[in-house]
Amino acid sequence: MLIPETWDLHRGQYWLRGRDPEHAVEFDTEKQYWSVHRYAEVVAALSDHTTFSAEYGRLIPDYPAEAFDGDLTQMDPPKHRQLRAIAGRAFTPKVVADLEPRILELTTALLDDVAGQDVVEFVRALAHPLPVIVIADLLGIPKSDLALFHAWTEMAVDPPAEFDHTDEKAMKELGESVADMNGQITEYLREHLAERRVRPREDLLTRLVQAEVDGQGLTEIQLTNFVMLLFIAGHITTTMLLGNTLLCLDRNPEAFAAVRADRSLVPGAIEEALRVMSPITQIPRVTMVDVEIGGVVIPKDNMVTLWASAANRDPRQFPDPHRYDPARDPNAHLAFGRGIHFCLGAPLARLEGRVALNLLLDRYPELRVAKTPLFKPNPAFTRVAELHLATR
Ligand code: HEM
Repeated sequence: MLIPETWDLHRGQYWLRGRDPEHAVEFDTEKQYWSVHRYAEVVAALSDHTTFSAEYGRLIPDYPAEAFDGDLTQMDPPKHRQLRAIAGRAFTPKVVADLEPRILELTTALLDDVAGQDVVEFVRALAHPLPVIVIADLLGIPKSDLALFHAWTEMAVDPPAEFDHTDEKAMKELGESVADMNGQITEYLREHLAERRVRPREDLLTRLVQAEVDGQGLTEIQLTNFVMLLFIAGHITTTMLLGNTLLCLDRNPEAFAAVRADRSLVPGAIEEALRVMSPITQIPRVTMVDVEIGGVVIPKDNMVTLWASAANRDPRQFPDPHRYDPARDPNAHLAFGRGIHFCLGAPLARLEGRVALNLLLDRYPELRVAKTPLFKPNPAFTRVAELHLATR
């Protein structure tokens, strides 16, 4: 069995739908959105940004669009193109590649902290702190301020499990605490960005403040929203990737042995974990016109959920799709999306995964899962929240 039974059943629904030709596209009457499950249809939708808009907030009455300006994932061209160009310049492949020694140093220090322990809780020891410190380092946010960001991202990805959406009072309270937390983060970033304008440093905040396209820089709201996106996207997703990769390897001893024996399989082990346990399961879009997809007509102004997790197990695209195979080639999975919104941080996530996995394999020849991992059931994220690893 690849993953714990309870979680498998939960998530299995999406995989099964993705395998069933009758359910290529279907309407979820409860959630009021269309679900697209097959690989070909998900790729078609992600590749057609004029029909499938990323600005899904437009369907919400009184949606404060400017409040999300700068969140690339919710922007369409031409604004998206402009901001993406600026972001791409501040976040170049060289900036990422240059981080390798620092990532190695951080991983080494985090593993030194738990050296000698027979059992290590991997999420707390490495999978969570490593990406947080890396993205904070990159941005220029001091380590001492990370608690605020941690509380904020936890709230964003992990709202109360038994939350009753029909309870108006509880909804209001949740809305208020989210707004309060967003306010604190925005204020914090505003101060730091203002400071960088006066005293530039060697960090991403400074590069973003200084970046221009066609003589135009980013507005304050764009800057804060973009940094918030980077922080949340650059942090929790990579935590999930690290935990999921370890889990996939542990549940597939032959693959694990192959990766240990041949480290050139490490990148493949990470890609395959992204495919079978995609950290972000769904990608939202909204239709700009009536559109036929998978034999179904979706009317204009409808929400569409593109299930990357189901598409990534579509047997039409991936032979033996539930098999975890680090040598799978080709492996054109959709865990980082596709098209104009393709994940900006994919090279960083891959680098962190490669460095962390190699170091773990160097240090712990006997590494294995010590007890049933804790999954947080959440249809949006494939997330292992606790993973106890035996080190010898
Ligand atoms: C976009 C997944 C790591 C920054 C995306 C999208 C996906 C994704 C699926 C596309 C969203 C869409 O089409 O609407 C992941 C996964 C990661 C990861 C699975 C780790 C395993 C990172 C990191 C960063 C990052 C480390 C930054 C440091 C972004 C940004 C976008 C994005 C800025 C928006 C790009 C755009 O809309 O043009 N990511 N991501 N991600 N990701 Fe990631």
